[in-house]
Amino acid sequence: MSSSAHSNGDAKHGARPTAILHRTPSLPPVASSAEGIYVTLSDGTKIIDAVGGAAVACIGNGHPVVKQAIKDQVDKVSYVYNMQLSNEPAEALAHNLIASSKGAFDLVGFVSGGSEAMEGVIKTARQYFYETGQGQRVNFIARQLSFHGNTLATLSLAYHPTRRAPYAALLNTDNFHHVSPAYAARFKGKDETEEQYVERLRKELEDKFLELGPDTVIGFVAETVVGATTGVVAAPKGYFKAMKSVCDKYGALFILDEVMSGMGRMGTLHAWESFGDGVSPDLQAVAKGLGGGYASIGAVLISKRVAEGLQAGSGYWKHGHTYQAHPISCAAALAVQKVIADEKLFENVAVQGPRLESQLRARLTGPNARAAPFVWDVRGGGAWWAVEFDFDNEAAKAKAKGYEGKTFGTDVQAKALENGLVIMGFTGGSSLDGLKGSHLMLSPAYNITAEEVDKIVDIFVKSIEQVLAENGL
Ligand SMILES: Cc1ncc(COP(=O)(O)O)c(C=O)c1O
Repeated sequence: MSSSAHSNGDAKHGARPTAILHRTPSLPPVASSAEGIYVTLSDGTKIIDAVGGAAVACIGNGHPVVKQAIKDQVDKVSYVYNMQLSNEPAEALAHNLIASSKGAFDLVGFVSGGSEAMEGVIKTARQYFYETGQGQRVNFIARQLSFHGNTLATLSLAYHPTRRAPYAALLNTDNFHHVSPAYAARFKGKDETEEQYVERLRKELEDKFLELGPDTVIGFVAETVVGATTGVVAAPKGYFKAMKSVCDKYGALFILDEVMSGMGRMGTLHAWESFGDGVSPDLQAVAKGLGGGYASIGAVLISKRVAEGLQAGSGYWKHGHTYQAHPISCAAALAVQKVIADEKLFENVAVQGPRLESQLRARLTGPNARAAPFVWDVRGGGAWWAVEFDFDNEAAKAKAKGYEGKTFGTDVQAKALENGLVIMGFTGGSSLDGLKGSHLMLSPAYNITAEEVDKIVDIFVKSIEQVLAENGL
């Protein structure tokens, strides 16, 4: 072992040397091969990925159409630099994204992932105002309990205290501002109607515009459906219409982050079509479901308004990275989008999503469900579902025998992995300080079968019940 390599490991998979600075406290198992939602580990164990990595592998691993498209592209052009040459799959993918957006977008910029897409959105929005004679616009307004990426600008834009903590001293608090999340299950007043809650949030946004100076605001930014921080939380009906009305009133941009929720995850190509009042944004970031994990890719989708502003200005994107519009990534993403369309996978999601939901509700909240006293919410849409737990409310406390469930989300994730199921478990999504709450997330491939849904639910529920039992519940 070299002096820099170290050894750590978990109970099941044992210690091994590694020179990677891993993102996990214990050493993650190594994947050796994968097919569909099944992953075989280096010790031969076969497990199921019920969350597509991180809501990425939307058609599973090893799809023959995508494999062939990647091989064909390697044979044609593996790399050209986008400041010198464009390439065929990038041009074709851009046309595909415009054609499928029903008029919402006019231009596309390609990047290598979600954080880069959001960074690109921030800079494109600024470029738009810089080039259209409104250089005084320097402020973004986003939301608490949001996640927009792991670069310094996207961490500044988003707001989740524990995720920001190590970097807080470096974050920009001059240009990035925050308003309340749209999370009715936690933050709507008991006596407030949904309409009143939406109006309160609309007014809060307008007040923030007025406080900053309305003509200094570049835009309002939101995840159409909130992902990692709170766990598949959709906004109340009418919320996005209301927020867009404030942006329109003051000439600012309405911006959506669909890195996780977009490209079919909610059962429609764009999440705003089904979960965003049908309101298309001025700028939008997409990533995970675009390439389905076959290659690193993200995109900035640009509306006619912004496209025309940029075309009348410099006429080109000032924002650049070396791997933008990578030919192999674009060929892979184009093939993934073709598979989704050709195999009519949204139709499959429309069947398997409700199957997953009804089984989760029955097995976790039904009269004989062990977990029922602690399940706060089962929610989601399309191929994206979450269960939020609460050991802290009055009813749950009475049954929790002192168990506070502080690490319940991550404990269940670890237990599920032991049981052969990859899920995502999180803590800290139910309070603004990011210190309370546990939620578990499932985001299977869009081509999942009924039998696979059943298998996932079995292992998922078993893992939850085991962690409860281990804590005396
Ligand atoms: C809503 C949202 N935006 C941005 C990102 C960052 O994407 P990436 O991890 O590809 O940089 C994520 C990642 O989970 C996300 O969920």
